[in-house]
Amino acid sequence: MQTHIETIQKEFEEDFKNCFSSATLESLKIKYLGKKGPIQDLMKGLKEASGEDRPKLGKSINDLKVSIEAKLTELGRSLIAREEQQKLLAEKIDETLPGKKRFQGRKHPVNGTLDEIINILIAMGFTVEQGPDIDTDYYNFEVLNFPPEHPARDMQDTFYINKEVLLRTHTSNIQARVMESQKPPIRIIAPGKCFRNEAVTSRSHVFFHQVEAVYIDKNVSFSDLMGTLTDFMQKLFYKDIKVRFWPNYFPFVEPGLQVDIHCLNCKGSGCTLCKHTGWLEVAGAGMIHPEVLKNGGIDPEEYSGFAWGLGIERLVMLKNGIKDIRLFTENDIRFLNQFSAI
Ligand code: PHE
Repeated sequence: MQTHIETIQKEFEEDFKNCFSSATLESLKIKYLGKKGPIQDLMKGLKEASGEDRPKLGKSINDLKVSIEAKLTELGRSLIAREEQQKLLAEKIDETLPGKKRFQGRKHPVNGTLDEIINILIAMGFTVEQGPDIDTDYYNFEVLNFPPEHPARDMQDTFYINKEVLLRTHTSNIQARVMESQKPPIRIIAPGKCFRNEAVTSRSHVFFHQVEAVYIDKNVSFSDLMGTLTDFMQKLFYKDIKVRFWPNYFPFVEPGLQVDIHCLNCKGSGCTLCKHTGWLEVAGAGMIHPEVLKNGGIDPEEYSGFAWGLGIERLVMLKNGIKDIRLFTENDIRFLNQFSAI
């Protein structure tokens, strides 16, 4: 048995000399110290040794075990240190290499303009409210004076989820909600997504954004509406931009308006963008209908108000000379990269 111990010792010395990596070291640990290794075998064999030899042999086996353990542990330490050193050398930074250009994220052009609009209106005294994109027929139509079966409902081609629930067709669904939750004076804007079941073309899409504005107080007049919208447009575009108001019909305002601005391209002198009219349509607006105020729990004898709904995609298109509304939803990085990083 003693010679066997020595053989194992020699074999280990040989393996140990050729151990240069922590992976080999691990396999040596298993080979010699593992459950199926020779040390364990020796231990088991000890039972068969004669009584007088046993303590001596036991000691030799144990010495061998302890020395293997110690050697492997020490080698392990130095191998790890060496391997770390090698890794550090390999990872050495070469500061003479040219830098890598990092990709810089940008705001989507629609969000950029939305933020600009929101900031201007906040500075003018409005606060921001949010309404649900998925809403009921009640808030999108009924409370806004579109009675069931009223022909005005055909004006909006709607995505219905069921008879009662739909994707909102305009941000005006916020109007009755704010009237229910706030008391006049109310001065809010509600930016958000809208959906209409329309054919997708270069000029119209099923998905777009609006910014609704609602102002309700005592003696809010038609001139407040015109003045506020003109002031806002001049802040958004340029100081002396002209704003024009036409009569238009929306069941929730009376009178109702279409709002045009001077063409951003030709400033009113006529070009292909404005089809030689000098004007561009940008919003629907009007004085809130007394029925809508009543529906929202506000006394129309005491209060009056105005509202407008500004279409955002069209504004962004006009501002940037974009010819196709579909570009906004196609996520083409070549398109998106053309807008300044904010
Ligand atoms: N909600 C109308 C639309 O989507 C716009 C509008 C808003 C008109 C507020 C009048 C008042 O076309």
